[in-house]
Amino acid sequence: MYRSRIPLLRYIGGKFYRSNLQDTNKVVFHKFHFQTQRRFTTKEVYSYEKIPSPFSWPILGHAYLFFPNGKYKTERLTEAVYDLSKELGPVFKLRLGGEDYVITTNADDTRTLFLNEGRKPHRPSFPALIHYRKNTFGSIGIVPGNGDEWYHFRQALLPLLKKNVIEAYKDRQQDVAVRFINYVQNKKDKNNLLTDVFQHLLRFTIEAISVMSPGVLFPCLEESSETKEVIQASISFMDGLYQTLMEPPIWKFIKTKGYRKLESSHAIIHRLLHNQTEILMRKFKESNLDNQPLMESLFNNKSLDQKDINILVMEIFLGGIDATATTLALTMYRLAKDERIQSEAYKEVVENKSPYKYIRACIKETLRLYPTAGANGRYLAQDAIIGGYHVPAGTMVSSFSSVTSRQEKYFTSPENYTPERWLRETRESVHPFASLPFGHGPRMCPGRYLAVQEMVILLCEVLRYFKLKSNSGQIGMVYRMNRIPDKSIDITFEDR
Ligand code: HEM
Repeated sequence: MYRSRIPLLRYIGGKFYRSNLQDTNKVVFHKFHFQTQRRFTTKEVYSYEKIPSPFSWPILGHAYLFFPNGKYKTERLTEAVYDLSKELGPVFKLRLGGEDYVITTNADDTRTLFLNEGRKPHRPSFPALIHYRKNTFGSIGIVPGNGDEWYHFRQALLPLLKKNVIEAYKDRQQDVAVRFINYVQNKKDKNNLLTDVFQHLLRFTIEAISVMSPGVLFPCLEESSETKEVIQASISFMDGLYQTLMEPPIWKFIKTKGYRKLESSHAIIHRLLHNQTEILMRKFKESNLDNQPLMESLFNNKSLDQKDINILVMEIFLGGIDATATTLALTMYRLAKDERIQSEAYKEVVENKSPYKYIRACIKETLRLYPTAGANGRYLAQDAIIGGYHVPAGTMVSSFSSVTSRQEKYFTSPENYTPERWLRETRESVHPFASLPFGHGPRMCPGRYLAVQEMVILLCEVLRYFKLKSNSGQIGMVYRMNRIPDKSIDITFEDR
């Protein structure tokens, strides 16, 4: 049955005007293309029930597909979606946990999704994290929040998008990058080999984010018991969070394995960060802080109390550890595999060609081939037409960018690692919604500028000191909340 409550629907840079509601399965809209053709065309729109879907069991829905002996593995969701889209087409529906998920691998649909996400986009939540934080700290933070609660925290992170704020941390990120170079010199074996580079880069990303939030270096590139605690807790937190999404939501009554992991790792990180934040807060009250624009803006923010600040410091701290380390590991891997691309990047370092456009293009290309978020999901704020189907407001739509960004219809030779496709002189014409590694719209990653600055600084330092080579075979990705490399990436760091 047609269930639209909104007569005017936005669609792909144009507008739909509802004109015919008699047919229950087929609704005809007149579409006015602003960009492509300046005339009215007619397009058929099918009802929600017509969206293709695999066979589903009563109650279970499609969960059986992901059972231990099922066709797919949850940690390989991108591959599952790719496979299902070949069978069912670019738009299909799955029923999981009693809820419908409309899935699309089409860039035009992704645009439609974001046009209809509303001013306070509603993203799938992390119920276990909300439960734990609400009961323990009385504040839930930005990542699991939605609506006004999310908006309140999101406003407080606006300084993260300011150029002068980000640039204030450049020198400290540079110091951490130099610490990483020394760390590699000490850690690599006599054949210059460093195995499982991702694990080592986690230490770098923890140090690099700590200089901003909480504003004190956590020395993870050195061995100490506290260091081990931070690293272990950061990894366990991601594992625990992911596990709680897979487990039945019974943690209000029984603490499941995933919930216990989440709780204990969260407590460790919160304690460490809270201690540092308190020290900084005292300094802030006595005199001004020395070049700490982010922490200062949080302390100055009258709408935040101490518990909100503690949670926000934690969100920023945890926000980019995995994703930044993954992107760095895979960029180093691709440079190590391709001498031509590595020497182009090295040339830029030697010539000191800031803002390092080629290295930035390498990062973009890594994020196209290996986006750390498999999909961007939103509950529609209003009815929309996704792939020719009418999808009512409130439905969860997931745009699988990790599948879209490897498709031939959007990128030439999509499996090739070609940074040149992002350079102005050699640029391909790219659909603006075909690769969205940082998401889009009001909920887009607030750490994106910081992350790119941090990655460019480290890659420059690594290339300045080392020639990279790798014998590792093909690397895929598995889900651990974010997607991370599925195998050990081993790289030789030959001194230049
Ligand atoms: C390569 C590195 C990174 C990648 C690929 C990445 C990717 C993403 C993506 C895809 C989202 C969801 C966006 C959406 O739903 O539209 C996100 C959200 C977020 N990211 Fe990042 N991120 C990275 C680094 C960072 C860093 C360094 C920080 C901390 C400064 C950070 C903090 C956050 C936060 C707090 C959110 C939640 C935003 C909200 O819900 O409003 N990220 N990130």
